Amino acid sequence: MANDLEHVSLNLNVRGLHASATVDINERSDELIRQGRTVFKFGLGQSPFPVPPVVVEALRNNAHQKAYLPVKGLAALREAVARFHEKNDEVPADPDNVIIGPGSKELMFLLQNAYYGDLVIPTPCWVSYAPQAQIIGRRVTLIPTHYEGKWRLRPEQIEELCADDPARPRIVVLNYPGNPEGATYSVPTLRKLAEVARRYELIILSDEIYGMLNHRGEHVSIARYYPERTIISSGLSKWCGAGGWRLGTFTFPPALRHLMNAMAVLASETYTSTSAPIQYAAVRAFEGGYTIERYLLHARRILALLGSWCAAKLRETGARVVEPEGAFYLFRISGRWRTGWRRRGLPRRRRFAGGSSTRPGWRFCRGRCSAATMASSRYASPT
Ligand SMILES: Cc1ncc(COP(=O)(O)O)c(C=O)c1O
Repeated sequence: MANDLEHVSLNLNVRGLHASATVDINERSDELIRQGRTVFKFGLGQSPFPVPPVVVEALRNNAHQKAYLPVKGLAALREAVARFHEKNDEVPADPDNVIIGPGSKELMFLLQNAYYGDLVIPTPCWVSYAPQAQIIGRRVTLIPTHYEGKWRLRPEQIEELCADDPARPRIVVLNYPGNPEGATYSVPTLRKLAEVARRYELIILSDEIYGMLNHRGEHVSIARYYPERTIISSGLSKWCGAGGWRLGTFTFPPALRHLMNAMAVLASETYTSTSAPIQYAAVRAFEGGYTIERYLLHARRILALLGSWCAAKLRETGARVVEPEGAFYLFRISGRWRTGWRRRGLPRRRRFAGGSSTRPGWRFCRGRCSAATMASSRYASPT
């Protein structure tokens, strides 16, 4: 009876939702580790690298910053983020069109609240896009991608979707290098995607949180080919190893500034502003320079080596795995892998109880697959 009443009092959009798969698996792994169990953590997309010491130093020097900052973010940080995208992505960026938030995840949630339209997500995809849309009550269209196509969305798939109802307002999420498959887009594909997006006036939410972790350092943003309606999402969590600091950034084109302003209204009524010391420290991170470049160079080299080594090992077990081109993920389709896994004396692939913590495919809106993060072991500092 009590349980029924609890259920009835839940918002309809929230009923039946589970905790975010990545957060959940991380907390359950930590609990088992506290109990003395050995868990190989392949669940949460946590960078294995330390925050660059120059950025830690900047945080130390700003621990005294105690004032609430402007809701859209510290002016110097918005400036640094705009310069960062101009330099690394070769796209024009205006500091007035940058918003800072406590993680890009929160900014995505605010965007979906502010925008009235559908969310289009190629799958497999990061675990939180679709649940966020469900919480807000947005319609989600999932577009399946395939192993044979390296898990990449084909421009014709978007064309097909939009041709049916061309005027429908839509945000298309592109995540590259992607979680959970580590794949990215070639320049010709980005150009073609941009053409289709322009034809149907789509908004692209370009989730480039792993952009700086393209293993070859050759990340290209779709904003270069579709600057007028691309929102670039980034932050400190992945390339700067500072997920727990909670700082994300959205960079808007001038034509979508009204959306950013609406997000700022929502932010002002919810979290007010992002942590002040973290924002001051982030200025140092986004300014970049030699030390940060060196850090990234080593991080990419280690991730590239690990990515191809792990992919090769998994293939030996019969699994189908696309070689990752960026980030720290592997996405495999089951083959004979259970037997191969055991033959090599690896811990049984149980998600817990002294095994390895991977995440099942349905969490990424796909079945018969699972994903693992290569990131949870500790490697030497790449500084
Ligand atoms: C693809 C992708 N986008 C966004 C996020 C959210 O990052 P944050 O909120 O830490 O900026 C993550 C975190 O795992 C991610 O993997």
